[in-house]
Amino acid sequence: MSSRYHNSEVMLDRALKSIPLGSQTFSKSITQLPLGAAPFFARHAKGSRLWDVDDNEYLDFVGGLCAINLGYGDPDVNSAVRTQLEDGVIFTLAHPLEHQVAELIIDMVPCAEMVRFGKNGSDATSGAIRVARAFTKRDRVAVCGYHGWQDWYIGSTSCNLGVPEATSALTYTFPYNDSAALDSLLSKHSGEFAAVIMEPMNITAPLPNYLAEVKDITHRHGAVLIFDETITGFRYGNGGAQALFGVTPDLATFGKGMANGFPVSAVAGRADIMSLMEKVFFSFTFGGETLSLAAAQATLLKLQRTNATDVMASHGQMIQDGLRKQITSHGLDNTLSVAGHPTWSFLVMKDTQPYTTFDIKTLYLQEMFKRGILTIGTHNMSYAHTKDDVSLLLRACDETFSVLKDATENKCLHDKLTCPVLKPLFKVR
Ligand SMILES: Cc1ncc(COP(=O)(O)O)c(C=O)c1O
Repeated sequence: MSSRYHNSEVMLDRALKSIPLGSQTFSKSITQLPLGAAPFFARHAKGSRLWDVDDNEYLDFVGGLCAINLGYGDPDVNSAVRTQLEDGVIFTLAHPLEHQVAELIIDMVPCAEMVRFGKNGSDATSGAIRVARAFTKRDRVAVCGYHGWQDWYIGSTSCNLGVPEATSALTYTFPYNDSAALDSLLSKHSGEFAAVIMEPMNITAPLPNYLAEVKDITHRHGAVLIFDETITGFRYGNGGAQALFGVTPDLATFGKGMANGFPVSAVAGRADIMSLMEKVFFSFTFGGETLSLAAAQATLLKLQRTNATDVMASHGQMIQDGLRKQITSHGLDNTLSVAGHPTWSFLVMKDTQPYTTFDIKTLYLQEMFKRGILTIGTHNMSYAHTKDDVSLLLRACDETFSVLKDATENKCLHDKLTCPVLKPLFKVR
């Protein structure tokens, strides 16, 4: 048992007895964090910092998996939630916050003419797919990226245990930045695709015109175009990726940062499609839960009155520029590269003989955690990150890259590990 993570490891032992995987979220579990070199439990967080149950302090670049875009415990969001708590959380009747937040989304997001709320991103993507199926009276869907845990999507991945084959058979994956491949997929079952759903961008930027071509192809085949903006929404900019790239989909889905960490998600889009939600069943006991809606209202209003997403992008750009220089100066161009939008960027790792990406990622995480940086190989920016935070991250990366260079060049990577190597995992990006 490691002394730095002692309490985390004791708690993990206990949690694994009552909770499969010891966590509610795959990306917070032992599948993703190297046991012996990682914290597992948080005690509290504020701004850009998180403290684990061993009282180790971290500069957090994961942000609850992109759920935090303003910063942990944002005072405006917290105050709105506290005020709402006094009035009540959930009622026998709908609450005005529902249409107030819907109107804010309509103001901010180009495709949004009407809005419905869910709790998780998966509620929103699944609702969008169902309404698209109802609208087109078709069943097949084309997917690109990650869209959540529900059968219609996860059945198309290697993590499909428990999903009926009949459901998986209706979902097809298509490669990003290849419009010919999408056209050929939709042509193969001509007139049968209800929807094309995609993350408008994750690791790779869209080629010029790619998203416009996707829209064109999708419409030519009579399908509904859905941008899954669960992460890019209210992060790439106030209007999400659709505003940034100037391509308006028919529907879009939001979650994650829309309430700075409170559980609420949204499907938004064309009124003629969205109004079918009057007949399509999309209904939750907690769909109109007001603490999260108050948090969403405070978050969206703060995004509107500040330059939060610009600040996130400019600090994120400093990280990308700094890392690119360091990768070259450490001679690691064959092992590491930087990709993604500055507000959600990726340190991409490659197999480097004789080591796999997983060997490299495990050592990278071990060294970063040790230096008080919480990362999963991404830099998920929040408005609370400062220039000093960027400098601290870059300093930790510089030291970690020295360790990685020594490990790969002198073939001593496994000697440096204090934990087992992470296992190859389900990967859709
Ligand atoms: C792009 C995208 N879509 C959908 C989802 C599913 O969201 P949730 O985990 O909140 O159900 C995620 C979650 O990571 C996501 O990144």
